[in-house]
Amino acid sequence: MSLQLGDAAPDFVQDSTHGPIHFHEYIDGKWAILFSHPKNFTPVCTTELGEVARLKAEFDKRNVRVLGLSVDPLEDHHAWSKDIEETQGVALNFPLLADADRKVSTLYGMIHPNADNTLTVRSVFIIGPDKKIKLTLTYPASTGRNFDEILRVLDSLQLTADYKVATPVNWKYGDDCIIVPAVSDAEADKAFPKGYRKVKPYLRLTPQPNL
Ligand code: BEZ
Repeated sequence: MSLQLGDAAPDFVQDSTHGPIHFHEYIDGKWAILFSHPKNFTPVCTTELGEVARLKAEFDKRNVRVLGLSVDPLEDHHAWSKDIEETQGVALNFPLLADADRKVSTLYGMIHPNADNTLTVRSVFIIGPDKKIKLTLTYPASTGRNFDEILRVLDSLQLTADYKVATPVNWKYGDDCIIVPAVSDAEADKAFPKGYRKVKPYLRLTPQPNL
């Protein structure tokens, strides 16, 4: 069965452009993103990896460690890195796993044989500091991912881990949040000193609590 939200993120040791990665040690009490791309020296993947490198300061700000993967060998990763720097204007600044033996891609269900029997799809796993899976995403090879959306989800996950709120449709950092239904009005009065707007008994909006 595929990995699901709340499952423990499987541990592994695999070679990477930064040397062997022991995944649970790599997470090191931080948030983590493990993402696969189908193949080196391909156009969409080249743009994606450039973008992830460009967003390093955003991931650092959120205490997130990033780890990429494809089933290409390590020598190819090093050669392709030069192309990424040349074409995207930014050097890779996070490790890329060389999963030629498919150890990690099999463990994480990143190969979808009915889409492609040999290459990984575009999978994303967001993993919390507790090493549990908080989000999974799967995109086809033909569609580059929106990493701004991944940052937005990280903001929501980190906020909802600390406060009894959820985030509404199209929420972005700074917007009002929803008080979770399990919180009574009496509790909400104490827990949300900025107050809240009660649209319905189950729909209560409060300013983002950590601002
Ligand atoms: C790409 O990154 O452009 C790509 C990779 C594999 C299949 C199709 C497109």
